[in-house]
Amino acid sequence: MDDVLSRAAELGRHSDSPRNYTRTYLTPAHQAAARQIAAWMREAGMAVRVDALGSVVGRCEGPPGARTLLMGSHFDSVRDGGKYDGVLGILLPIAVVGELNRRGERPPVALEVAAFADEEGARFKTSFLASRAMLEGAASVRALLDRRDADGVTFADAMRAVGLDPDRLDEARIDPSKLCAYFELHIEQGPVLLGQGAALGVVTSIAGGSRHLVTVRGEAGHAGTVPMPMRRDAMAAAAEMVLAVEECAATDQLVGTVGMLEVKNGTGNVIAGEVGFTVDLRAPDDPRRRALEDRVFALFDAIAARRGVRVEKSRRHEVRAAPCAEWLQEQVAAAIASVGAEPVRLPSGAGHDAMIFAGVVDVGMMFVRCGAGGVSHNPAETVTAEDASLAARALLRFVRDFRAR
Ligand code: GLV
Ligand code: MN
Ligand code: MN
Repeated sequence: MDDVLSRAAELGRHSDSPRNYTRTYLTPAHQAAARQIAAWMREAGMAVRVDALGSVVGRCEGPPGARTLLMGSHFDSVRDGGKYDGVLGILLPIAVVGELNRRGERPPVALEVAAFADEEGARFKTSFLASRAMLEGAASVRALLDRRDADGVTFADAMRAVGLDPDRLDEARIDPSKLCAYFELHIEQGPVLLGQGAALGVVTSIAGGSRHLVTVRGEAGHAGTVPMPMRRDAMAAAAEMVLAVEECAATDQLVGTVGMLEVKNGTGNVIAGEVGFTVDLRAPDDPRRRALEDRVFALFDAIAARRGVRVEKSRRHEVRAAPCAEWLQEQVAAAIASVGAEPVRLPSGAGHDAMIFAGVVDVGMMFVRCGAGGVSHNPAETVTAEDASLAARALLRFVRDFRAR
């Protein structure tokens, strides 16, 4: 089978930055990666199309009238991320389709491999954009077209610059009734498989998450003259709020993260007048996540009242927790066992495009062990050649033995 790790390294060279691996939506590096993926799909014998959002989809026909098993993941990245997040779930299915074609074997169902153009959403602060557009068309995208990236370029102009038409977003829609299942292979992005000495895992469910933009408004002032009791310092209030997120999530044994914080007109000798930050909250089930959200926001209000600042919260994104279908878990487990590995079952704390598909079709996922202590969203993310090759064999088996329900 194709050497997936060499291909991941090759794809990793398409980066927005010469200093690290950063590939954000619709940049020249992103488009070069899309062309490379399309070339590998063609080489594997697939018919290739690029959809209205820039996702690349390869197709391999099955028996006449058969529905389609859609296998996908994303090829955008976080800033200074790891080269396997998303990419592994594109390259391994391409390798498997190529292998079937080399053997002259027709798969038991039609196969499609989707390389989603935007999942992380680092450039326009979107999330799961490309998979959402496949199911919801323009409805989920239109409202975002005026968003600007850090250089002031709008999403709509970024689309036009690469030849995509923001007036034709609906053309990204697929017909989900033609799918028999959605499957995603992904690096685990955590330490569980590593800790258990297992190379591959069967994902049982995917944690739900919400992301919020919080703005704290106090009063800008002179750092040298305003006495401490008279300040309405947006930065100090925001700092207390960040710690409240950490404290509440830890108490509830869930996860909460403030990953971005910006001080408007921030200067060393000015008391901060306005601070914006993100809050990312996740939980295995939606009621617990909503309870966490309520508690965090009540604390924000109390902190703001005590400090004489105003706080606004706006939900930028929410995705419900998604179970993986039992019948797909069974087939993933059987495929893993067939290559002599132990099919460890585990939930996913990270979000995946599979969550979007879970609303309309049964979804299944396989995890591949993450090296280096399980770090991900970090350039130290690694996968061993042995694990990648075992994953390729297990995926080949999964596809050849696949039985739609
Ligand atoms: C995707 O990487 C996520 O935020 O879980
Ligand atoms: Mn990621
Ligand atoms: Mn990912």
